Amino acid sequence: MTLLVTGGAGFIGDEVVRLALERGERVRVLDSLRPEVHAGRAPREPRDVEFVQGDVRDAAVLDRALVGVDAVCHQAAKVGLGVDLGDAPDYVSSNVGGTAELIAAMHRAGVPRLVLASSMVVYGEGAYVDAGGHRRRPAPRAVADLEAGRFDPRDPDTGEPLTPDVVREGDALDPRNTYALSKLAQEHLAATWARSTGGTAAMLRYHNVYGERMPRDTPYAGVAAIFRSSLARGEAPRVFEDGRQRRDFVHVSDVAAANLAALDGLPGLEPGTARAFNVGSGRVTDIGRLAAGLAEAMGGPSPVVTGEYRLGDVRHITASSERAAAELGWRAAVALEDGLRGFAAEV
Ligand code: UD1
Repeated sequence: MTLLVTGGAGFIGDEVVRLALERGERVRVLDSLRPEVHAGRAPREPRDVEFVQGDVRDAAVLDRALVGVDAVCHQAAKVGLGVDLGDAPDYVSSNVGGTAELIAAMHRAGVPRLVLASSMVVYGEGAYVDAGGHRRRPAPRAVADLEAGRFDPRDPDTGEPLTPDVVREGDALDPRNTYALSKLAQEHLAATWARSTGGTAAMLRYHNVYGERMPRDTPYAGVAAIFRSSLARGEAPRVFEDGRQRRDFVHVSDVAAANLAALDGLPGLEPGTARAFNVGSGRVTDIGRLAAGLAEAMGGPSPVVTGEYRLGDVRHITASSERAAAELGWRAAVALEDGLRGFAAEV
């Protein structure tokens, strides 16, 4: 199989390329090497890949990159949560516009398979159950609650805190920022492409991905990279809220394996189908524990729980990845303790 990995020089794409090569696939990479991502980043050792430098928004570049390609793994995106509204045009242009160009070019080239890097952010706040055992999907938290340190979403009828549960692929989607909207739009574009061409697509909703070569020192970095950088400077990680907010940290090598499993699973899908899969480790970790685990792995100062909050943050978001296990035969293999050791050792 000849595989095109867009964003193949990035944190996750690079790992997909590595694994695909290991499996003996022919791999071509399309990457624009955005300076804000790649400046100062050591290039990986030379590998047996054809590299096309260019932007996914450039139709001519895409036509060149897609010659002879059997499947596309679309990782290229502007990532992270937006810092302010000034980011909105770039998210929409890079992620929505880029994917629109990609599906049009795939149609021209007759490429029938697509794996799309989506995100858990399409769900917004996680799923909860109320005291009566009913599933609930709460609205954004009120500023007054956050100010008062009431971080858990509450049942609007009783005022009682709701109990967190896992989200499933069939749950309602509730994108709450421009990045989330761009990821959801990418999913819709993939579904439109599949329907109108008879192609098949897998949309992988990544949870919080961490691991070696994770982007750092940018305002868009995920919390694991932020904590690691603080510890490397000898400073305590600053844990927001009360540190009990729940996430699922999945190692980048597991995410790469999910991409390959999805590629293998595509021929088994009904033509014209785009199927979503949650990609998480299946283990719930709270942010306080992540900070403590990293501090221990790096021999650094204990975390400080600050009580600060970021207005756009959701409280808990953890997924069931059972669909990926049942339909793709994929499960995360890296235990958090092991993953954090390697991650900590990289600095
Ligand atoms: C992250 C990603 C998002 C991705 C999503 C997948 C970033 C910035 N966000 O969102 O792109 O699609 O996962 O689910 O990469 N926190 C601290 N201290 C800090 C920074 C953050 O305690 O210094 C807390 C936050 O308040 C939040 C949690 O850590 O509760 C996670 O924050 P973050 O890493 O930004 O990730 P998500 O919001 O989960």
